[in-house]
This record gives sequence, C-alpha cells and structure tokens, in this order.
Amino acid sequence: SMAPNGCPVSPQAAAFDPFDRPYQLDPAEALRWSREQEPVFYSPKLGYWVVSRYDDIKAIFRDNLTFSPSIALEKITPASDEALAVLKRYDYGMNRTLVNEDEPAHMARRRELLEAFSPEALEAHAPMVRRLVREKLDAIIDRGQADLVAEMFWEVPLTVALHFLGVPEEDMEQLRRFSVAHTLNTWGRPSPEQQVEVAEGVGKFWQYSGEVLRKMQARPEGHGWMYDMIEKNRHKPDVVTDNYLHSMMMAIIVAAHETTALATANAFRQLLSRPAVWAELCDNPALIPAAAEECLRHAGSVVAWRRIATREVEVGGVTIPEGGKILMVTASGNHDPAHFENPDELDIYRDNAVDHLTFGYGSHQCMGKNLGRMEMRIFLEEFTRRLPHLELEEQEFTFLPNTSFRGPEALWVRWDPAQNPERRDP
Ligand code: HEM
Repeated sequence: SMAPNGCPVSPQAAAFDPFDRPYQLDPAEALRWSREQEPVFYSPKLGYWVVSRYDDIKAIFRDNLTFSPSIALEKITPASDEALAVLKRYDYGMNRTLVNEDEPAHMARRRELLEAFSPEALEAHAPMVRRLVREKLDAIIDRGQADLVAEMFWEVPLTVALHFLGVPEEDMEQLRRFSVAHTLNTWGRPSPEQQVEVAEGVGKFWQYSGEVLRKMQARPEGHGWMYDMIEKNRHKPDVVTDNYLHSMMMAIIVAAHETTALATANAFRQLLSRPAVWAELCDNPALIPAAAEECLRHAGSVVAWRRIATREVEVGGVTIPEGGKILMVTASGNHDPAHFENPDELDIYRDNAVDHLTFGYGSHQCMGKNLGRMEMRIFLEEFTRRLPHLELEEQEFTFLPNTSFRGPEALWVRWDPAQNPERRDP
C-alpha cells in the first residue's frame, strides 16, 4: 500500500498498531525497529505519521507554526454517530485550551497565566503535599501490603490539583471516573458500545465543569489558578475567552492530576524493581530529584503527543503533506541512543536525563512540570524514610488502552511493619 505522500508503506509500518499489546506494555520497546530502521513512517491503521527519534521529535516541538498543536486533544478514534448524538445532548463544546491553541493566541494567554507557577507560588503548596502523603502513609503503615495506586497515587495528585486550581474538593470519585472517560475518549479506541458509554461520561464531565465554573465565578474572593483565569476573563475577555474557561476547566483537571499520578506509579515501579537503586535513595535522599527525573525519562506518564503539518514539510528525510497528522512517540525519543547513552538503563546519575521529552518541549512545554516533580519528590522522600524496606509484589501490570497516557492501573507492594523505622508520623 501507499502512504499519502506516494511512498510505499513497509510491512512493519503497515502492521503497527498502538492499541496492540507491545505498544501498550512498552511503547519505547515497541518502536525500537522504527528508531533503528524507519524513524518516520506512515501508519495506515492510525492514519498518522509516526516519529520515533529524539532529534526529529524535538524539531517538531520547536516549530509550532509548521507543526500546529491544534489536534492535541482531538479524538484519535473518530466518534460514532451515536456517540456524537450523546455529546450533543450534553451541549458538549470542548475546544481550545492552552495545549492545543495556535499562535498568537496561545502565547498571549500563556503569558497572562504564568504567575501561579513561579517557584515561590509552587513552594507554598509543598507542606500540603507532604501532609497528604503522610496521612495516606499513616493509614496503611501497619498493614504490610497495599496497592499504592488505589491508596494514594490517584487521590493525592487529584487533591493537590484541585487545591492548586481552587476547585472545591468534592466528588473526587466521580472526577476520577470522568478522567478515565476523557482519556479513553481522546486517546483510546473504544468499541462502538463503549463509545456511547464514554460519551456519557465526557458529556457529564463537560456539564459538571460548567457548573463548578459558574459556582466559582459567583465567589470571586477564591484563590487558585482557575480564579486567575476567571479574573483575566473578566478584564481581557479577548485573550482569556469564555469557551477557553470552560474547556480549560475540564482539560486541566485531567492534565494536572492524571499525568502526575501515573508518573509516580511508573517511578515507584522502576525504582522498586531495582532494589539496589532503591536502597541508594534510602541512604542518600539527596539523590531523589535526579532519580525522579530519570524515571520521567525512562518511563514517563505521557508517551506520545500530537501535531498537524500546516504545510508540506520534510521530517527526517520523509515528506509529510500539508494536513498530515503526526504522532510523536516521546517515550521512543527518550530511549534514542543518539541522545541518551545506554538509553534502556535506569541510571540515576545520568547527566542529561532532564533533556527528556515527557513534558514536551518549546513554547507549549508543560507549565505544571515543577508541581509534578515536587509531588514525585515528596512521595519518594516520605516512602524512603518511613518504608525503606518496601518491596514490589510479583504481579501482572495492566494499562488503560490508549496512545498517550501510561502507568500501571495497580501497584502492589509489601513490607514488614515490624521493621518500620517510624510506626507513627513523628
Ligand atoms: C502541557 C506532560 C503535569 C499543566 C503538557 C504537555 C505535556 C505535559 C506532554 C504538552 C507539551 C507540549 O506540547 O510541548 C505532563 C506530565 C506531567 C504534567 C508528564 C506530570 C508528571 C502537569 C501539572 C499541571 C500541568 C501538574 C498543572 C498544574 C499543563 C499545562 C499545559 C501542559 C497548562 C499546556 C501548556 C501550553 O500549551 O502552553 N504537559 N504534565 N501539567 N501541562 Fe503538563
């Protein structure tokens, strides 16, 4: 078969399907052949150009005029007519936020909304993060066994995200279900029956976001990043628009917690499966920030991100036509030996781990990266201090089937409570 640029499709490119097991289990490994042989290829099953090498991905991120982010939140599996009808019933109107907004609107908006991410503003959240992690640890510390995802990796980042945004902390369980629906809707391949169910969840999430937003708009004395937006919307409605407010309300709840929850679960899995590395962190907690960064490189929670070509353009020697949709597999770029020495090794002393693409790159690079890092760091600090003898249980890991968000759905660990250096929160 032929790609849209008239070139033949190789057998491996024809067979590539991100919803198959290899990509779902380990996207970087699933694209090793591509990094080595065909770093830019057209995937007929996906209808996307897949890019797997570090330098090519970075070049795409760098030029957001040629490579527009407008499709970043588009449904990767088109909605069925039934699903569209459901969404219409909910008046669903999710549109541009920051992450999928083109210039010049994007930069004008981003600049207005930077203050909440200053180092001082973020540091003010650290005591709350630590208190939440400690409370969750207190609840399990005498138990000897736990699924850390269920016990705290979701709930702590969700609580922190809501607090950061100024969103009332109610309906947390419901919000978690909404997030899963949003992820499947945007990056998954729901079956025709699932499509309707997922659309119901997304429609309800959209309505819920609108209701919370109206409640918040009615009490302008509140604090948090959403309040900054409400304030800007009042004074600069052309920069921070009404639809932006509603779309962002829905998108950011997910962006701010799911990414961090999954990144934390991935990091604990990576570190605990290497007991010598874990022991090193317990002995020397100063290594924790570098270890967290290396985990974000080695097994990040965002593994692929999208752009669309606004003109015919060459990437890695391949001509991508105007309108070509691009899937950058950042997890693959993070394992590119041309940029990272021994890329498959988890090396907490690696001096360029921070070059990873897990937060994206360039003008859209993740605004919340330092908040996510802080949460991972505090989780690791508390666990290495209070449960240094933590061990990973033998288990099969499962993942929510989708192209972009990755982390185990459960993470079972065990420990001997008699050995706890601190049975109670000191
Ligand atoms: C954008 C990943 C945590 C807010 C992004 C992008 C990625 C990403 C891949 C797109 C970057 C690009 O297009 O170049 C992650 C990961 C996280 C994380 C892996 C945790 C480990 C957070 C948190 C917040 C946040 C905690 C908010 C409090 C945002 C925002 C953008 C963004 C607002 C859009 C920036 C723009 O387009 O200008 N993130 N994120 N993220 N992230 Fe995060």
